[in-house]
Amino acid sequence: MGAVGSKQHARVPKASKLSDVYDDNENSVAARYDTLVSAFKTQFEGEKPKTIARSPGRVNLIGEHIDYEGYSVLPMAIGLDVIVAVSVALKEEGNVEEDEAEATLSIANVDGEKYTPKEFPFDHEQEVDVKSHHWTNYVLCGFKGIFDQLKKQNKLESVLESAFMKRVKKVMVMVDGKVPLGSGLSSFSALNCAVTVALMDAFELSFTKGELSELTCLSERYSGTQSGGMDQAISIMGEKDLAKRIDFNPIGAMDVPLPTNLTFLIGNSCAVSKKAESAHKHYNLRVVECRLAAILMAKHYGEDIEKAKTRVTLREVADLYCNKGDLWTALGAVRKALNEGSYTKKQLENDEGLGDLRKIFDCENNEAFNVVLQKNDTFKLRDRARHVFSEARRVHEFQKICEGQSPRYAVSGPIYEHWCKVIGLEPDVGVASDDPTKDFGHPMYGIGKEDALAKLMHLSHESCKTQYECSCDELDELVDAFMSAGALGARLTGAGWGGCVVAVCESDIAEEILADVKKSFYEKRFQSGVANIADETNLLFKTAPSAGAAILHYDDEKGVIV
Ligand code: GLA
Repeated sequence: MGAVGSKQHARVPKASKLSDVYDDNENSVAARYDTLVSAFKTQFEGEKPKTIARSPGRVNLIGEHIDYEGYSVLPMAIGLDVIVAVSVALKEEGNVEEDEAEATLSIANVDGEKYTPKEFPFDHEQEVDVKSHHWTNYVLCGFKGIFDQLKKQNKLESVLESAFMKRVKKVMVMVDGKVPLGSGLSSFSALNCAVTVALMDAFELSFTKGELSELTCLSERYSGTQSGGMDQAISIMGEKDLAKRIDFNPIGAMDVPLPTNLTFLIGNSCAVSKKAESAHKHYNLRVVECRLAAILMAKHYGEDIEKAKTRVTLREVADLYCNKGDLWTALGAVRKALNEGSYTKKQLENDEGLGDLRKIFDCENNEAFNVVLQKNDTFKLRDRARHVFSEARRVHEFQKICEGQSPRYAVSGPIYEHWCKVIGLEPDVGVASDDPTKDFGHPMYGIGKEDALAKLMHLSHESCKTQYECSCDELDELVDAFMSAGALGARLTGAGWGGCVVAVCESDIAEEILADVKKSFYEKRFQSGVANIADETNLLFKTAPSAGAAILHYDDEKGVIV
């Protein structure tokens, strides 16, 4: 079966029954929505929700840290989600006191003790306080993103001047999240997406899924991380039973059917990844390193230095200079264009002739990059670029294998064929090493589809660990625990530096593997208090592709769904 139908032009569906969205027991899902609604009514003194929306977390099967470099990734939406109830109170016409009062955006959480409520002015131009790391920052991101999108569509003035917007007195938002925080399953993107969809509907606006994916990607940057668009795109465009290949520039989501005899498992490493807090030394630093690598590669290909400095992604450079984006060629070029080890700031600015790095990254206007350059003096470029190009290739191979192509044929490209000839192998033999000239190996040769997918996941983890350096001891230990228990493959998922592992296994032994991993990895953590046994089902579980964002019809008489 080929990749079918990109759905970016569709609108977020209005679910007509809970089973359209959830596989879980309908009663417990309905009870969760009842709790959301009663928390809403209590918090906002009897007001009723106008709109309810949900958006899920995600697990990335393969393609880590390449979305912001323009390369496709292959995630699926998971069953855990964020649900949001919203209502807009309007000023009474002719009521002078109300007319003059400042409109507000009031945000609360069902778990109000842990996630305290906050009130903001109803002002889309206000800044997000990135120093506070308060959970409501992501709600503000969603709120601001809607107006940014309107501006982009030249509709901002007319919407702000509309009778509806002028009468807004108070926007009320109640949130309930089930995606574990800091787990690498995109809890914050699920929050941003659910809020954006709910507010869009409550403000009587309508954006396509593609527009929503892009606007939430950009709006989340107000929180302080320069992330790519994978998490938001899959949260918005995910579908039951299908993984998706998410493309960028332009955004798109192609269906990828997963082998039905395989089950995907998720395990939380119990190392919390605080993406926003640690961005300057982890996530944002990698974005900076990749951009510097792209610039030096463009320079290597003879671009004038000023022109090279305008390059933003590795893909941009590979598409221009590496056999129209051939990833083997790009991998070869990395070795020639970039030094092994690290570059210092001084080397980059003086020896490489890049001048003031702060100017390249527009640090006057971009605080996230400003902090990266203030706090780091060494930048690894070759390893980061190698990871990006080899990971982009693994995504391509993974998709081809899922679509039924033999692992032997999943690899292609002129340089690859050339190398195969040099080495004396048939060009259709799969290669999973990222450097055929040096560590040539053909682990995909003669293995079945399932093993090939698992092997790609394994290689992805190795590359994340050694070249991108975004793993950590707990993630590596959990990967080993899954493998020792009999999984076919396992890898960190999401940004890394903590969070979750995704593993794949033959479906008939999934339960055995879960029991084994519980014993080897979690029991000691339950005993030491690092993990809480009450959270067991959210720490280690089976997962399958789930539905993406949805708007749920709310009727106060009949409940959430009519
Ligand atoms: C985070 C970001 C994504 C992506 C992953 C790593 O989840 O939000 O855009 O870059 O890390 O693959």
